[in-house]
Amino acid sequence: MTNPTKKKIGIVVSGASGSVLALESLKLLRQLAETDPTLQIHAILTDGGRQTASLELESHEQALLESLPDHLHDDRDLTASIASGSNPLDALLIVPCSVRSLSAVAHSQTDRLSIRAADVMLKERRTLVLAVRESPLHLGHLQAMQMVTQMGGIIAPPLPAYYLKPQSITELARQNAARLLSLCGLPVGDLMQRWRPETPSQS
Ligand SMILES: Cc1cc2nc3c(=O)[nH]c(=O)nc-3n(C[C@H](O)[C@H](O)[C@H](O)COP(=O)(O)O)c2cc1C
Repeated sequence: MTNPTKKKIGIVVSGASGSVLALESLKLLRQLAETDPTLQIHAILTDGGRQTASLELESHEQALLESLPDHLHDDRDLTASIASGSNPLDALLIVPCSVRSLSAVAHSQTDRLSIRAADVMLKERRTLVLAVRESPLHLGHLQAMQMVTQMGGIIAPPLPAYYLKPQSITELARQNAARLLSLCGLPVGDLMQRWRPETPSQS
């Protein structure tokens, strides 16, 4: 039986570019779980997510991506616990989020676990964050984002915080990941770099 006191966080890795964002999000979640044993990490890789990860990540990074979650679900497994409103996640982050996944969420096309789990979040009024990665955007993309926003989802494109002057793609992805996890209500604390113009070195 599932422990109801667990804080269950889900990550869907879709086929948009930015597999490194998923990897850094999972690494941060694992780091948080070290100090919070109630945190339980669920993940789903879509077919597209698996393909893009194979093109963007080294093989050891792909293996790490799949080993970090406590539960790695098959996207075709609609019998998984997180597919039910009786056993929902506390928060679900789709990172990176493709236009296909965004549109499927907007239209409740729940024939995959990733989209069913997202739909459950919306119907149960829980936190759903979509790190949509596409540019430029046509009206259909914007309308899908509007629909998800009106249903309670948070659209959070993974844009760089240039003012934090990231020195590498990994550092940039880590900054994005911390911001996304904070939107999921997680206590990222000092793991998230913040703009502090009043610090002595800059005043
Ligand atoms: C290397 C690569 C990069 C891609 N980047 C994007 C992207 O940034 N945004 C997007 O919406 N789709 C992107 N795609 C296309 C998606 O992977 C494709 O539409 C897929 O069907 C998405 O399905 P999913 O949402 O189930 O993962 C990319 C595909 C590849 C192979």
